[in-house]
Amino acid sequence: MHDYHALKVAAVDHLTPNAVALTFDIPESLSNMFSFKAGQYISIKHKINGEEIRRAYSISSAPSSKKLTVGIKKVAGGTFSVYANEQINAGDILDVMVPEGRFVFSPNDLVQHVAAFAAGSGITPIMSIAQTVLEANEENQFVLVYGNQNPEETMYRKELLRLQDKYTNRFFIQWIFSRSTEIDSLFGRIESSTVNLILKNKFKDVNFSGYYLCGPEAMINSVTETLQGNGIAKEKIHYELFTSTDAEDTLVEVLDGMAQVEVLLDDETFRFTMDKKALVLDAVLKENIDAPYSCQGGVCSSCIARVVEGKAEMVKNQILTDGEVAEGLILTCQSHPITPNLKIDYDDV
Ligand code: FES
Repeated sequence: MHDYHALKVAAVDHLTPNAVALTFDIPESLSNMFSFKAGQYISIKHKINGEEIRRAYSISSAPSSKKLTVGIKKVAGGTFSVYANEQINAGDILDVMVPEGRFVFSPNDLVQHVAAFAAGSGITPIMSIAQTVLEANEENQFVLVYGNQNPEETMYRKELLRLQDKYTNRFFIQWIFSRSTEIDSLFGRIESSTVNLILKNKFKDVNFSGYYLCGPEAMINSVTETLQGNGIAKEKIHYELFTSTDAEDTLVEVLDGMAQVEVLLDDETFRFTMDKKALVLDAVLKENIDAPYSCQGGVCSSCIARVVEGKAEMVKNQILTDGEVAEGLILTCQSHPITPNLKIDYDDV
């Protein structure tokens, strides 16, 4: 169920001096497994200098294209992002997990106008969502607010301009640059005033059915707050964090002592003892249990498990809803056991 599949890189396209798009060949035998919804991501596993690296990347191609493409921006000091930008060539083989993620747009028969706010590489899932919205109904409108440092570092810029030509009068882009002054663009970053400009001024007559936010935490927080301040219901606001701060919320319980842990994964049971100060996923991996994970930063949702006995507490959770937490779901990469015994099930999620 959590298996990786060896896929061949069909093409490597340079989007900017510091970003590439990798397109994978999906063999016919895997085409059902690798079908996806607009907004989902894949996890890639690869050995670099003897170390196994796993990373999650959003799919930028639209489901209708029958292509699986991800955009990868080089991160200073990063491992996989640098490798992908500098070393991966067409024909290389990478291990890829089937698409997952809940930041999705599902088209229906109704007219759906959508607004999106993306910063930097946060554009990747929005590319897929924008194309899907525009293809779904010829009355659908899509408004994109897209922030970058300058046009040269803007991922998918050409593709966006092409889409704008194709869908004149239905696809609108508000460019924002923080280090370059450009005609018809805003200067600065996406903030409260930008959201108000879109909602109360430029597109005040459009009734948006959904808002998609993708980028760093500070942007997501300020856009969400402003949207809600404008009376937009929480259920209409969808977001995906692209970077996360290292700051941990303070745990309310003191994490002293050891916990007996039982893990159910792919119908197998594993038992071990761990320090309550450690994170569940770290302890699971140390036991060589092949549990699903990707970002290890509470961002991607690959590592979800259900607590069936005992209690675990998350240091950070911006993915699971209150209802899911009440049901016992945890992000194992963010959880510490807080009871002497903890039983978790990766299969029942
Ligand atoms: S591994 Fe990504 S949320 Fe836990």
